[in-house]
Amino acid sequence: MMNNVLIVTSSALGEHSASSRIAGELESLIGIANPGAGIVRRDVGAEPIPHLVPATVGAIRGGDETEAQQRTLELSDRLIAELEAADLIVIASPMYNFGISSTLKAWFDHVLRAGITFRYTDSGPEGLLTGKKAVVIESRGGFYSDGPAAAMNSQEPHIRTLLGFIGIDDVTFVRAEKLAFGPDAAEASIARAIAELSAFAGQELALAA
Ligand SMILES: Cc1cc2nc3c(=O)[nH]c(=O)nc-3n(C[C@H](O)[C@H](O)[C@H](O)COP(=O)(O)O)c2cc1C
Repeated sequence: MMNNVLIVTSSALGEHSASSRIAGELESLIGIANPGAGIVRRDVGAEPIPHLVPATVGAIRGGDETEAQQRTLELSDRLIAELEAADLIVIASPMYNFGISSTLKAWFDHVLRAGITFRYTDSGPEGLLTGKKAVVIESRGGFYSDGPAAAMNSQEPHIRTLLGFIGIDDVTFVRAEKLAFGPDAAEASIARAIAELSAFAGQELALAA
């Protein structure tokens, strides 16, 4: 049973965003399979998390001496609480300049916290947010699944590393590519991504309910 779902969207395109649209479709599928699920939406594209700066970065190590640090610590704690409460985390990630958007990166910068979401042990770092699933929707203007551009894709490996570092290693990636190849190619790609998510929802969500 999916009790709690966190949906993080991170596009600059607002209502025109492909990744947010696909995430919205998944949200509907989740709602149908799990009528009682609690769904929390965090749109870091529309409401960006501030970058860490000299006055605030200490908060990530727990510093709370100044007002600026206290505000950052509160935000980081709130974002982590949303993650901790979620059984399923949906991340909608547009590819910007071959990687994740800076707004999604700023979110990760606030939720990877030593001693809270991961810890250092004698045998290396250990993720502490275990027992969760994630679905990552990746939208891209080009095509990176195969061929010469595959090596330029630093979006998917980066997200896999970031989630894995905090203990989330059951991750399903769904890609909508060729979105800049004209409207027909874009619609076909978005439809394929939604079909993949329907199959995922049928297997992972309905069975679990
Ligand atoms: C600032 C910016 C940088 C982009 N960089 C890339 C890129 O490196 N590779 C690519 O395939 N598409 C790139 N695109 C295209 C987006 O990936 C594409 O528009 C996609 O639909 C974005 O997802 P969204 O609609 O959810 O925002 C870029 C778009 C923007 C606005």
